[in-house]
Amino acid sequence: MSELQDLTTLVRAATPLLVIETVDEQRVIECFRHVIAQALHPLWRWTLTDGLQRLDFARRDGPSAADVTSTLEAIRAEPERGIYLLFDFHGLLGYAMSQRMLREIVQRQRSAAHTVVLVGAKVELPDELEALALRVPLALPDLKALAAIMRGEALAWQREHGRRLEVDNDAARTIVRNLLGLSAPDARRIVRKLIYNDGALGSQDLPELMQSKFALLNRSGLLHYEYATASFADVAGVSRVREWVQRRRGVFLAAEPDPVLDPPKGVLLLGVQGCGKSLAAKAIAGGFGVPLVRLDFGALYDKYQGETEKNLREALASSEGLSPCVLWIDEIEKGLASGGEDGGVSRRVLGYLLTWMAERRSKVFVVATANAVHELPAELLRKGRFDEIFFVDLPRAEVREAIFAMHLTRRQLDPAVFDLPALAEASEGFSGAEIEQAVVSALYDVAGGGTLDQATLRAALGQTRPLSVLMREQVEALRAWAQGRCVAAD
Ligand SMILES: Nc1ncnc2c1ncn2[C@@H]1O[C@H](COP(=O)(O)OP(=O)(O)O)[C@@H](O)[C@H]1O
Ligand SMILES: [Mg+2]
Repeated sequence: MSELQDLTTLVRAATPLLVIETVDEQRVIECFRHVIAQALHPLWRWTLTDGLQRLDFARRDGPSAADVTSTLEAIRAEPERGIYLLFDFHGLLGYAMSQRMLREIVQRQRSAAHTVVLVGAKVELPDELEALALRVPLALPDLKALAAIMRGEALAWQREHGRRLEVDNDAARTIVRNLLGLSAPDARRIVRKLIYNDGALGSQDLPELMQSKFALLNRSGLLHYEYATASFADVAGVSRVREWVQRRRGVFLAAEPDPVLDPPKGVLLLGVQGCGKSLAAKAIAGGFGVPLVRLDFGALYDKYQGETEKNLREALASSEGLSPCVLWIDEIEKGLASGGEDGGVSRRVLGYLLTWMAERRSKVFVVATANAVHELPAELLRKGRFDEIFFVDLPRAEVREAIFAMHLTRRQLDPAVFDLPALAEASEGFSGAEIEQAVVSALYDVAGGGTLDQATLRAALGQTRPLSVLMREQVEALRAWAQGRCVAAD
């Protein structure tokens, strides 16, 4: 393992201060046990509960107290050069005195050439110490290590229950693949839960796996797991999008990169409000057969002032941990407030998003939707950012018929009873959402008794003033812009 070589090299070079951010303390100890097998230095561990203890063959306890100052004094007084793993120690460095002492050890003032290793989930240091520290990323377990974790948990369950665990090998492989990106303790916790739920590992565990993984990865809280994806059968009038997705599905999901075809990166769905963009985004995830996560782009800003870019970075990294998946940014224009009022933050956010989209190698397919084009920065619309920009227009007559049929059927009504072409004609300029609304309100009109008929539906349509009429100019402008720049979704 190369990270072990790295650690060994760092210890050999007598690097004074290392920082390892992880919750996997056991793994850190194991790594350093390997290191001292070669470098032969005393290995010490400090925890709040046990104080300082020597871990290698020469077991010996230091000052048992959790007292930071006496711990640091003991380290400084130790004549033999050693490795000190200090777990959750950084949080106690609040006092100038302890900071100063640690600095003196690290700078080897009246101290042997120790290597101090600060370990914790998140290690934040005062600037003076940070400048002296070397942060070592601990590699996440690979497929082999994850498979070993799964085997270990399976054996433990079998020992405990005295019978064989039912394992579906294909599903087990999928589970292991989906644990990539998690730390060893997290992966172990999830696998254990999947096994102990039902004494089996099979495809029935996959949804729970994705949700647990999502809960772990979504530290920024800006991603939302959309449990309900849709199917293209639920959206009328996006036949081109459906074909586009079907044609790319194989390459998107392939384990090995295609030698000729670039993997699909993402699409922008642009169009009139209420015409099925959000629904189509869900259908794209359904079409690819992968989970859907929504990035709350607007919330990037107000969550913690000044942390916007970090939030975005974390959210995007989390989505990569969930790959293959569809990352959905709904109404992207709302998160990209144009103009310079926000100190250029939204500029930088967009820049980061675009760079990430261009460079990422993981299977995250981005679907962005937008209702307005004039609010979108030009760089988002430039060729090559998205694979395609689809324009989702107001539905034409045939599509309106299909939308009526869909929403009538959904409410236990037989569309064959209605004159659909006539309804389509009466709903010229209506969006899908408005058609659905008309069906809903017509149903209320007859809720007291009686059945929904053609006349009631027509009356409901007559009472609706569609957006395309109320905002004729905006809709026309959007359509004009889309001409020649976008691909029609239908
Ligand atoms: N093309 C369509 N086919 C079927 N239903 C539609 C269509 N367009 C809109 N609807 C209905 O209207 C609702 C709102 O549409 P939505 O997808 O949110 O539109 P948008 O995101 O374009 O504003 C949908 O959930 C669906 O019930
Ligand atoms: Mg929408």
